[in-house]
Amino acid sequence: MLGVDFLDSNIAYARSVRPRLALQVGDMRTVRLGRTFDVVTCFGNAVSYALTDTDLAATAATFAAHAHPGTLLIVDALNARSYLDGAGFQERIEGRVDTPGFQATSVSALSLDRADRTLKRTRVWHIAGQAEVEDYAEYRLLYPEELSTLLTGAGFAGSACTTTASSGTAT
Ligand SMILES: C[S@@+](CC[C@H](N)C(=O)[O-])C[C@H]1O[C@@H](n2cnc3c(N)ncnc32)[C@H](O)[C@@H]1O
Repeated sequence: MLGVDFLDSNIAYARSVRPRLALQVGDMRTVRLGRTFDVVTCFGNAVSYALTDTDLAATAATFAAHAHPGTLLIVDALNARSYLDGAGFQERIEGRVDTPGFQATSVSALSLDRADRTLKRTRVWHIAGQAEVEDYAEYRLLYPEELSTLLTGAGFAGSACTTTASSGTAT
């Protein structure tokens, strides 16, 4: 098992809670780990951060570079069908983190650019005793067929798309 994320801070946190895992900072568009895996996963809508066609193709090439015949690829993406054609889009979402060591609430303001097929989120965190913290994210919305075509083009076969509640929600 080897895990990759773009942000130093996320890798540092993951190492602190899962010290036995092999983790490294890397960009899904360019990282090359020098080996293949039986299973390649891209969870948490990470692929939706690939905003351009070039970024998407590069990310698919990264999946392919780490696959061999028989490798199972699992990609979790924000679903354009839910946001553009269904009821997935909400302008405001309230969130809460409530763990034994940390509590926070958040309010997300979302906007949809239908022409660009992008979703933009500004989220404000409220943490007791601290100043508000704001984060910003921008996501590309792909239809399942587009994701399937992208991955087929990168050499993967036999795709199956499943839509779940969590894959349709950018909180
Ligand atoms: C919603 S988080 C999901 C984290 C984790 N994969 C999970 O499922 O819990 C999305 C992650 O994608 C990462 N990310 C965004 N762009 C990336 C890139 N170009 N390469 C690698 N990771 C990226 C972010 O740093 C963030 O940690």
